[in-house]
Amino acid sequence: MSAVIPRVVSEVSEDGEEFVWGSGTVLRAAPGTEGVADWLQGWAPREEGGGGAVELSLDDGLAPEAYRLDVTADRIHLTGGSAAGVFWAAQTLRQLLPPRAYRRAGAWGPWRLAPTHIGDEPRFAWRGFMLDVARHFMPKDGVLRVIDQLAAHKLNVLHFHLTDDQGWRLEIARHPRLTEVGAWRTGTQIGHRASTLWDARPHGGYYTHDDIREIVAYAAERHITVVPEIDVPGHSSAALAAYPELGCTDVADTTELEVPGHWGMNLHLLSPSDATLRFYEEVLEEVLDLFPAPFIHVGGDECKKDQWRESATAQARITAEGLSGEDALQGWFTRHFDRWLAARGRRLIGWDEILEGGVLEDGFPGGSLTEGAAVSSWRGYDGGVTAARAGHDVVMCPEHELYLDRRQDGGEDEPMPLGYVQTLRDVYHFEPLPPELADTPQARHVLGIQANLWSECTESPQRVDYQVFPRLAAVAEVAWSQLEPAAERDFADFERRLEEAHYARLDAMGVDYRPPSGPRPWQRRPGIPGRPR
Ligand code: ACM
Repeated sequence: MSAVIPRVVSEVSEDGEEFVWGSGTVLRAAPGTEGVADWLQGWAPREEGGGGAVELSLDDGLAPEAYRLDVTADRIHLTGGSAAGVFWAAQTLRQLLPPRAYRRAGAWGPWRLAPTHIGDEPRFAWRGFMLDVARHFMPKDGVLRVIDQLAAHKLNVLHFHLTDDQGWRLEIARHPRLTEVGAWRTGTQIGHRASTLWDARPHGGYYTHDDIREIVAYAAERHITVVPEIDVPGHSSAALAAYPELGCTDVADTTELEVPGHWGMNLHLLSPSDATLRFYEEVLEEVLDLFPAPFIHVGGDECKKDQWRESATAQARITAEGLSGEDALQGWFTRHFDRWLAARGRRLIGWDEILEGGVLEDGFPGGSLTEGAAVSSWRGYDGGVTAARAGHDVVMCPEHELYLDRRQDGGEDEPMPLGYVQTLRDVYHFEPLPPELADTPQARHVLGIQANLWSECTESPQRVDYQVFPRLAAVAEVAWSQLEPAAERDFADFERRLEEAHYARLDAMGVDYRPPSGPRPWQRRPGIPGRPR
């Protein structure tokens, strides 16, 4: 078997004459596949030699993301149920070549390919990666590079965590102080929240509307959807530093607030006032204009409700709406944006805390979430199970399995080690469908899975690479491939494919992954405390 990652559904190799791909090979794109041809042309061999044709076509008998890839002596034929399927076929084709085919230039064809027939399609429609650009900003070029990495692994959703306490990263023309004030901080805690180390360099950055349009278009060319997250009503200190009136001003003096540079949960919540709701609608109007994704993420995680308990404004809202308390108030707040988004043809997605106040239960005052609303289940499977049983879609991203900021080995050398150990093998054995949903009709509500990378301890693209790879390759295989039940999966074969080719592909792409033997000297961070558990 070839060393393709994620593993393909079927592959039949043949003896016979090889296809030779060089400058003498013609590229033929049937209508609807021109975009894939443009992308493929970017790395097709230019060296003299070869012949025959690389042909791209659509086959409406296939599911949209399914494809076939046939290599014979005189042609390579890629056909997919849609352009996305053809694109994934092209990704597989690249992996049939030597790893240096991932270099941006000087790949040294012509390439020789043995005859083979591959049929493939994804297990899940949502194969995601969340990038937190709020805690540490990632300049645009780094984001484009991440998109290329996702595409190479047939991942198709970039969940873009654009706002948090420590930074607001999206230009909002109507409310310019969000970036003038909210996009930078005077310094940053180094390491996790117990650390006493401090970096007094100002940190910041944000994406302009044109940056976002470029990122979204670049992703779309790679059949990746960018799902923006504007986190409300917690994780909003950067917004409050810019516009103090958005906060619970009857219980906290938000006028003195600065964008914090330290980590950990923050007590500030947005006020559930009409003015704050209107402000965020104005923010979301620009978000909708920039991001065509069907889903818009509104966060909702980790809201300590102390301020709402004490705020007369919040309590008046609870009374007026007949809500049972502060958790239900969050449900009400979420539902406001759910309906607002649904009226504009979009779907809300939020972290599983949005369910805590019973917003999916019968009899919730004023009614439940709309049918299209979905949940990112991060505190285990439970939120996802609750949502799926109530008929809502779910993305599984449980923190103990799929949080790539968590340490990947128990050794002393892991840089800024966080949380429980989540090895490559652990990730590989993750099962997206919990037992409560497996073999039930509600299983179809599990759209897929997503790995999340919070960036408190990853200050640069190189540090992100280390946390993310090779574990994201395992995430990709779990999301795409029709794997055996978790306990029976052939991890040794996955490792073989990594060793035979995939580490070399990552090298060719310039990814500073964690080698199986442990961190390289420059990947260590001696003396910087993490928070291992
Ligand atoms: C989260 O990890 N706070 C969603």
